Amino acid sequence: METALTNKTIVLGVTGSIAAYKAADIASRLTKAGAKVNVVMTEAATRFISPLALRSITGRAVATDMFDLESQYTIEHISLAEAADVVVVAPATASLIARAAAGISDDMLTLTLLATKAPIILAPAMNVNMFENSVTQENLAKLKARGFIIVDPAHGRLASGRVGKGRLADIDQIMGAIQQVLAKSGDLAGKKIVVTAGGTREPIDPVRHIGNPSSGKMGYAIAQAARDRGAKVTLITAPASLLPPPGMAVMPVKTALEMKQAVTKAVKGADALIMAAAVADYQPKSVARAKIKKDALALTLELVRTPDILAEAKGKFLKVGFAAESEDIVANAKKKLKNKQLDIIVANDITDKKSGFGVDTNKVTLIDKKGKVEPLPLLSKREVADKILDKLLVFLPH
Ligand code: PMT
Repeated sequence: METALTNKTIVLGVTGSIAAYKAADIASRLTKAGAKVNVVMTEAATRFISPLALRSITGRAVATDMFDLESQYTIEHISLAEAADVVVVAPATASLIARAAAGISDDMLTLTLLATKAPIILAPAMNVNMFENSVTQENLAKLKARGFIIVDPAHGRLASGRVGKGRLADIDQIMGAIQQVLAKSGDLAGKKIVVTAGGTREPIDPVRHIGNPSSGKMGYAIAQAARDRGAKVTLITAPASLLPPPGMAVMPVKTALEMKQAVTKAVKGADALIMAAAVADYQPKSVARAKIKKDALALTLELVRTPDILAEAKGKFLKVGFAAESEDIVANAKKKLKNKQLDIIVANDITDKKSGFGVDTNKVTLIDKKGKVEPLPLLSKREVADKILDKLLVFLPH
């Protein structure tokens, strides 16, 4: 399958951090996705991970020394910079960030950063004090102002044993940033897409709620696929155990009512609303202020309907709904398509254990307002996401 990474030339800069070994994972994922990965290492980086390892992963020469006469890159020393579609430095140390901010080009990597016209992504990794130091923060602010994209480090246990912000960001976050940069010219470039995900929670008392097992995987996959195809994405997410994906606006919500308010705000000027969220149809009529005691043998909760967000969303955007069904899948989904006046409905077969809530795969049938019914085999949620977006493109005005 073609992705934003296929046939792209990526310079992966690696600097001397304990996190340098993680560059191998990034190089491997980029290479598997069909990108040509040219690794450039600082001298310090070669002490943490061998150039041979990265050459074996990418199948391409690794540049380390500006003055290496044997290297194909040193002759045309800015050729790497010129060929790049994107330059990514992961991990980026405080020293690399400082040198880049000052415009110093004293090794192959800083030279490439100065000479390239491609977008540059930096993923810092360092000790928390070094990261928080005002010099580092000023340098990062300077680079951001020049258009560098910074993938913020994560909070956690650092090599020094201290806990704080400084760990290299999750590799998925870094991959997301790369894909987003490369997707600018994708088939959804310029489109604004709102996606909902996760399962809403309707509180009963301060510690209990009515919920459902939606993990958010389906909605997040759609948001990421739309982002990777160039769309401007707003992800409205009910509680999910997933990290907020980079490169999009993320609006966390809890209840159906909060989701409705967020959707009403986000759909202004949108081209499409895709609702993959599992929204509660009922909420307790009132929420107990204190934790309900279990004194009584039985308890009756009075429930009232939640708003139908999708049916009530008004505007010129296309509407895509999901229908998790266990019987008469197509017929029931068609009813929802009609009642909610949708353009497309994704009928989700939840009788298959590998499909629906919580799992990484999904088996769906796409049904559109013209009556076309397209059953799909069991696919990864990301593949399903791309199929939904392919279908959406048919109806989106060009
Ligand atoms: O999150 P995962 O673990 O990956 O699981 C994915 C999923 C199974 C949750 C998802 O793919 C899915 O099928 N979501 C829809 C669940 C469902 O059955 O919705 P529904 O039939 O209750 O509603 C139909 C449509 O109306 C949905 O798009 C829903 O978001 C929307 N809706 C529902 C109720 C409501 N009050 N307002 C709404 O807008």
